[in-house]
Amino acid sequence: MSALKILVIPGSLRTGSHNVKLAAAAAYEFAQFGADVTRISLSDFPLPIYDGDLQAKSGLPRNAINLKRMIGAHHGVLIVTPEYNSSVPPLVKNTIDWITRVQDQNETRGQVFREKPFAIAAASESRLGGSRALAALRLILTACQATVIPSQLALSFADQAYNDMDRLKNSADIEAMKALVKQLIEVSERMM
Ligand SMILES: Cc1cc2nc3c(=O)[nH]c(=O)nc-3n(C[C@H](O)[C@H](O)[C@H](O)COP(=O)(O)O)c2cc1C
Repeated sequence: MSALKILVIPGSLRTGSHNVKLAAAAAYEFAQFGADVTRISLSDFPLPIYDGDLQAKSGLPRNAINLKRMIGAHHGVLIVTPEYNSSVPPLVKNTIDWITRVQDQNETRGQVFREKPFAIAAASESRLGGSRALAALRLILTACQATVIPSQLALSFADQAYNDMDRLKNSADIEAMKALVKQLIEVSERMM
């Protein structure tokens, strides 16, 4: 059987982003479990703010189509989101909004969300670790009828959470990451 393919999407473009680091730590862990990991940057898929007039005039942006197809080509997806004002940043919401508009031939709209499991994680310098962004993201994905696995990771005090190699250094964070990775792999295998 070919390796399980996992897509990791960090929801920040910022240089030195805690969430990009967490996405990298997760990608490393997925690889340790034998998965074939793709970690992207949304800077490679720039999208305008969703506007129905723009879609009517110009159609769907190629980057929205490419992202949707990239999700479709993987067995499981991890989204790692920052928390902005107690919710997901516009980058994450706007990307999901565009992807929900993409409908390839012979599929129903939003099919890509229903066909594979999603995991969610967040990193923040605060004590809550972006847990309100996780609640918001879970709601959005669930409304898209996605299976969002129960395990999640809200990384508190993210500015102190990594060692010099950008690996998680606290055992509780490492265990939470392993639990998330293991569960996404198990559910992805079941839904294959
Ligand atoms: C507009 C804005 C709103 C923010 N709101 C929150 C918040 O509600 N909760 C929180 O924990 N951090 C908040 N932050 C701080 C971010 O968590 C912090 O900037 C974090 O480093 C962003 O993620 P990144 O490092 O992956 O870019 C906010 C930052 C910005 C720019």
